[in-house]
Amino acid sequence: MTSAHAEADAESLINALNAVFGKHDGLRAAHTHGFCVKGSFTPSAEATSLTKAPHFNSKTPVGVIGRFSMGGGAPDAPNTQKDNVRGMALHFDLGKGDTTDLVMVSAPVFNARDPDQFLALLTAVASKDKNKIAAFFKDNPNTTRQAAWLNARPVPASFATVNYWGIHAFTFTNAEGKKQIFKYKALPVGGEVGLSDEEAKAKDPDFYRPELKERLAKGPAKFTLTAILGEPGDPLDDPTAFWPEDKRKSVNLGTISITGLEDDKTCDAGIFDPTNVVDGIEGPENDKIFPMRSAAYGVSFARRQK
Ligand code: HEM
Repeated sequence: MTSAHAEADAESLINALNAVFGKHDGLRAAHTHGFCVKGSFTPSAEATSLTKAPHFNSKTPVGVIGRFSMGGGAPDAPNTQKDNVRGMALHFDLGKGDTTDLVMVSAPVFNARDPDQFLALLTAVASKDKNKIAAFFKDNPNTTRQAAWLNARPVPASFATVNYWGIHAFTFTNAEGKKQIFKYKALPVGGEVGLSDEEAKAKDPDFYRPELKERLAKGPAKFTLTAILGEPGDPLDDPTAFWPEDKRKSVNLGTISITGLEDDKTCDAGIFDPTNVVDGIEGPENDKIFPMRSAAYGVSFARRQK
């Protein structure tokens, strides 16, 4: 039996995701409903002062392969659902076949502090037992923050009209060796656009792909990638904890420009791995969710090859 103190590992987390959302051969165990895109990234002049990472110092635009997705493991997760995150995953082309990745969602927090809590959450939901689920959320109020945050906002009108966060606290190192803790946030250049509940209800549950295709026919979908700078006392190990973002400095790192749809096979050939960083960027040391993501994505990838 799984308790709140279960020792979650990558296999048990994927099994638990399958127990909630079903097992779908050949597909991702989470963020199943999505599609592949391409574009470029042009770093800002300020990015250089924060990090020596090559894609933030490039004199020419860096090629990007990306994937937009709905959270959860349902292959038909509706684009009209409010309390579900939208995902934006990016591979930055560093040349010679090398890439570095950035994986973000449309909320500033995740719904579990550590892998054990995530496993306990999934196990409670998979039980379909209303009392058990209610008891879990009562005992684990931090796991309700993401849904509350999403429910307080409209359904995004497009994958291109919502903010995305990297969730974890990363550390930049610049050419002089100076370190800076930060969180990624990407903001649509045209601002956020949401739908009223009535408008959302009238949409096809799979409207995001045609919407983006039509949008890109008129020009790229652009996001400003920023670094929210951490200050002493900001939590570094808990992805369910908010940073007081409005009180923090934010630095423009550059522009993500999505220019077209890409064959889904390009995205399905590998994983978008948040731990795939590069010299000049480090992941958090004590955030247990961060390394588990890499392991779990590896298991999901291996299983979807079969
Ligand atoms: C231990 C915690 C987590 C587990 C077990 C988990 C599980 C998964 C799995 C199984 C996949 C599919 C991997 C593949 O087959 O390629 C996935 C994809 C994804 N996850 Fe997580 N995840 C976790 C935490 C997070 C967090 C904190 C974020 C916040 C940024 C996140 C955002 C995403 C996104 C955006 C994708 C889609 C990537 C793509 O488009 O291929 N996940 N996750």
